[in-house]
Amino acid sequence: MDKIIINGGNPLHGTVEISGMKNAALPIIYACVLVEDKCVIENIPNVRDVELSLNILRKMGATIKTLGKNTVEIDCTHINQGTSDPELVKKIRASYYLLGSELGRFGKAKVAYPGGCDFGGRPIDQHIRGFESLGGTVCTDSGCIEIDADEGVCGAHIYFDIVSVGATINAMLAAALADGNTVIENAAREPHIVDLANFLNTCGARISGAGTDVIRVKGVNSLHGCTYAIIPDMIEAGTYMVAAAATGGCVKLTNVIPKHLESVSAKLEEAGAVVDEFDDSVIVTGKVKVRKANVKTHPYPGFPTDMQPQMAVLLCLADGVSYVSEGVYEKRFRYVEELIKMGASIKVDGRTAVIEGGKPLHGAPVIAVDLRAGVAMAIAGLVAEGTTEISDIHLIERGYDDIVGKFKMLGADIKKVSLPDPEELPLKKVNLA
Ligand code: EPZ
Repeated sequence: MDKIIINGGNPLHGTVEISGMKNAALPIIYACVLVEDKCVIENIPNVRDVELSLNILRKMGATIKTLGKNTVEIDCTHINQGTSDPELVKKIRASYYLLGSELGRFGKAKVAYPGGCDFGGRPIDQHIRGFESLGGTVCTDSGCIEIDADEGVCGAHIYFDIVSVGATINAMLAAALADGNTVIENAAREPHIVDLANFLNTCGARISGAGTDVIRVKGVNSLHGCTYAIIPDMIEAGTYMVAAAATGGCVKLTNVIPKHLESVSAKLEEAGAVVDEFDDSVIVTGKVKVRKANVKTHPYPGFPTDMQPQMAVLLCLADGVSYVSEGVYEKRFRYVEELIKMGASIKVDGRTAVIEGGKPLHGAPVIAVDLRAGVAMAIAGLVAEGTTEISDIHLIERGYDDIVGKFKMLGADIKKVSLPDPEELPLKKVNLA
C-alpha cells in the first residue's frame, strides 16, 4: 500500500512544468477508435487513467506504441467492436467515451457501465438522449450499455437539458462520421471539448463551434491519422497555483494557457495571492495572510468543480468565514471529514460548505477519497504543522503526473513510501492459551 508522507511548513519556490490535460487526453484516446489509421498523440500525461485507457484499447485489438516519454502512437484499424474488458471499463468514467466512438465507427456499441469518482448520482440520461437522437436504440438491460443504429447514424438536432462535458463529447464522437449534419445545443464549453474538436478536425472531421454552447458537426465518410499535441492541464495548473498561495511561496508554472485559468486566477487574487500572467506561464505569489472568499462551482468558464477541494483548503487558512458551493455535482464534500481530522472547522449543509478559517492545520493520517480530494489533502499537508500521511494515493496518481517529484522540486518535504498492505500481512500466531 503506497502512501505520501509530508512534513508541512515549507513555502513552495521554483518552477513547475504542467503536463498534458488528463480530461483532454482521455476523450482523444477513445476518439482514435473512429480512425482506421495511425494517430500520434503528444504531450500525453503519465497518469493511471491514461495508462488504463490505452490498455482497454490494446485488449480490444488496437496497436499502441510508446514513441517517447509523453508520446504514443495509437492504431485502431483492427480494433474489435464491443470487446472492451468490463473489469477495466468499470475502473474509470472516461471509458464511456467508447459508446460514442464505437457507435460512430461501427453503428453499434457495447460497453459495461463506467466507474468514476463518487459524487452522488452520475446518470447518463443526456448521453442516451444524444445517441437516440442520432438514430441509436439504447438497451441497458444486460448489465452493460448497448446501442444499435440499425439504419445507420444520422445527423440530428440534439438539445441537452443540462450542460454535460461527457454527453457533449459522446455526441461529437457519435456524430463525426454520421450521415448528414448534427447540431448540439446547450453544449459544454470546456477547453478539452475544443481540444477534442481540434483533434477530430485534424483527422478530417468537420466540427465548428466547439467552446460555445452550439456545436455543429458535418458528418464525413472517414477520418485519417494525424499527429496531435494535448493542451496543458488547467486543473493540474490550478492545483499548483493554490499550493503556492497556501504555502506563502512563489511558484512559476510553465506550459500553461492563462486564458484557461482565468476563474482560478481571479479567485486566488480575491483570496490575497498575486498572479502574474505571461504568454505560456504564470507566477503565483502567496501572501502572509489569506483573505476569506466565496466560491461557487459552475461549468466552464465558471470556477471549475475539479478545483473545489483545493480551494477549500486555502480558505481554511483565511481569517473569517468562507462559503464554498458545489454547483455541478450532488455531493462533492467527502474530503471535509478528512480536513476536520487536520483541525479544519467546516460544516457542510447540502451543496454548501461553511469554512470557519484561521484555525491552524496539524498533520494527521488521512485518506484520498477521490482524485481531487486527495490532492487537496496534499496541499493541506504542505501547510499543516507536523506530519501528514495520505493513503489511497493511487487515486491521486489517476490524474497527477509525478506529483511527489514536482512538489519536491518546489521545496516540499514530501515522499512516497510503499508499505505492505495490512490486510495482506501474514496473521501473527495468536496464543489463545
Ligand atoms: C467530466 O466528468 C470530468 N471527467 C470530471 O472530472 C469533471 O468534474 C466534469 O466533467 C465536470 O467538469 C472526465 O473528463 C473524465 P458532466 P463528466 O457530465 O463528463 C450530471 C476529475 O476530477 N449529468 O459534465 O462525468 C452529472 O451527474 C473528474 O478529473 C447528468 O445528470 O461530468 C453532474 O452532476 C471528476 N446526466 C453534471 O451533470 C448526464 O447524462 C456534470 O457532469 C450526464 C451528466
